[in-house]
Amino acid sequence: MDADDAIDPPPTFRKRATLTSDPRERFSDEWPEAWDAAGDLLDWFESYDAVLDDETPPFEWFGGGTLNASHECLDRHLDERKNRLAIRWEGQLGETRTYTYLDLHREVNEFAAALRERGVGAGDVVTLYLPVVPELVVGMLACARLGAPHNVVSAGFSADALATRMERADSCFLVTCDGYYRRGDAVNQKRRADNARLAIDHDLEATVIVERLGDAQLGANQYEYSQLLAANAGCEVEPVARDSTETLFLIYTSGTTGEPKSVTHTTGGYLAHVAWTARNVLDITSTDTYWCTADIGWITGHSYIVYGPLSLGTTTMLYEGTADHLRKDRLFSIIERNAVDVLYTAPTAIRSFMKWGEEYPARHDLSSLRLLGTVGKPIDPRAWKWYYTHVGGESCPVVDTWWQTETGAILVSTLPGVDAMKPGSAGPPLPGIDVAVVGPDGSEQPAGERGMLAIRTPWPGMPRELAAATDWGASAAADGEWRYIAGDEAVADDDGYIRVLGRRDDAITVANQRIGIAEIESAVVSVEGVAEAAVVGVDHSTRETAVYAYVNPATQQAADDALHEAVIAAVEEAIGPMASPERVIFTPELPKTRSGKIMRRLLESVANDEDYGDLSALRNPEVVGELRSNDDGIS
Ligand code: WTA
Repeated sequence: MDADDAIDPPPTFRKRATLTSDPRERFSDEWPEAWDAAGDLLDWFESYDAVLDDETPPFEWFGGGTLNASHECLDRHLDERKNRLAIRWEGQLGETRTYTYLDLHREVNEFAAALRERGVGAGDVVTLYLPVVPELVVGMLACARLGAPHNVVSAGFSADALATRMERADSCFLVTCDGYYRRGDAVNQKRRADNARLAIDHDLEATVIVERLGDAQLGANQYEYSQLLAANAGCEVEPVARDSTETLFLIYTSGTTGEPKSVTHTTGGYLAHVAWTARNVLDITSTDTYWCTADIGWITGHSYIVYGPLSLGTTTMLYEGTADHLRKDRLFSIIERNAVDVLYTAPTAIRSFMKWGEEYPARHDLSSLRLLGTVGKPIDPRAWKWYYTHVGGESCPVVDTWWQTETGAILVSTLPGVDAMKPGSAGPPLPGIDVAVVGPDGSEQPAGERGMLAIRTPWPGMPRELAAATDWGASAAADGEWRYIAGDEAVADDDGYIRVLGRRDDAITVANQRIGIAEIESAVVSVEGVAEAAVVGVDHSTRETAVYAYVNPATQQAADDALHEAVIAAVEEAIGPMASPERVIFTPELPKTRSGKIMRRLLESVANDEDYGDLSALRNPEVVGELRSNDDGIS
């Protein structure tokens, strides 16, 4: 099968798909009013005046409407399915817990009451620094209930990274845990949180500690989660009515300057877009058990572990561990034991499964699966086909969904019961979404020609920064035309299917986190003995992107094991272990352009063992030979 082969949706799937006819024409004829279909999936307190007001920025989706995300995900389901499972959780060590909608509703209310008692009100930013445990979902929905934007920082981030994200968000409330297990080892999360607190300029009003390991020593203004719940047992908190355009949460992503940048998602537009895509792209229904393997701290987890599935009344599966912890068929065993209907994972995971071998999925009954999804990176046709065959048994459609932190929800994908699939290609833009591949002058590229992905009309899940459209630098409002350049290079085919080639800005995805290269480089050059450094992402064929750091030491003598270790330690301290360089390569010189800029593209080619093409822009071409010969030497 090559990339051009189109595969029709499996007939068994098609028969029961949520969407069986293509709504694209209606969405384009009646744009933007057709997005009403997304607004209709929510239970508004006050209905909206118009679907979209795009007269002048900031654009408003569902303006005039009021709602509450916690009500959408919990209260409105109680009549029909209070005793259905909202969450099935499996921990790193194999322990399990379940929450019905009623259980989750109760705990969210009690925790919201506790937060309110500690001073959290509408508009206060609450930072949640937790692994994938049910309490993280409780925390998010409790914040939403109070109208307090949440700011989730993945548990793997370092104390410094947490401090930066809390300080930027002016957040005085923190919910964390005493510790957790990662690959069987206990991580002392409380110590990290305490270190972060010391590094933050402002005082924290309250820190809540979820007891995972059971050994928390409480300091001033620190409270145990279970005690707070006990003190608020049975309390109910009225969900606060939020305007559609008010903030539901902040989330940090990489910035091109190396500083993390926050994106602000709205309540109405975001939820409507997420619910519509969860229903029509991932085909989730209220009777499904659905599993997205991402970290909740990533946008994928916000949209498609928490808000999408819960707003549809689904059972969402949470798994705290790593795909291969203890056994290489862990993921398949979870699917079988929980009879998972829909699986959403990342190409990097699929490539690992492929490397381990088809015997692992073959050991399990995976016939409960109905649909497979992928997100986060381009998926090559070989991995796509492996997923389709060995996990989906050729009876589940695969949706290759393209989107970003900044888009909030899926923008490009096939509709699983409607569109033919082309392995390696994400598919056409979704109904009502204008995504195109554009050339340097902003005009649409002919089919087959590379260009940058641009979004040319507003979409419901757009964040506040883009809705305001003035504060997004060159990305928005270029030459008077509203447009957002997403940073990905892509090519469209004759049928309008988009193949995403990868990011063209300076960000890499490691361990499901998009991280700015400049952020890693600034940690490396902070080490004494480092004169200059360049960091690149290297795609191994089977595993995650690996970080390689090319380091020019201040003196040749400085290039020793101690410096090597110091570089790794600096990155782990500034960002976290997931960004830790797999290799540190000392070089007497870095390749530079005549204007003195480090040519990272060239290092990337060397590291990935690719052809490095034209070197005419280089001031010091001789360095290339040296790097090549070094490449399997000092590291
Ligand atoms: C990449 C993740 C190819 C892309 C939801 C994008 C993809 C970045 C795909 C956003 C896909 C995401 N095919 N590339 N299906 N999905 N990407 O913000 O480079 O963590 O710009 O959001 O991931 O990463 P982020």
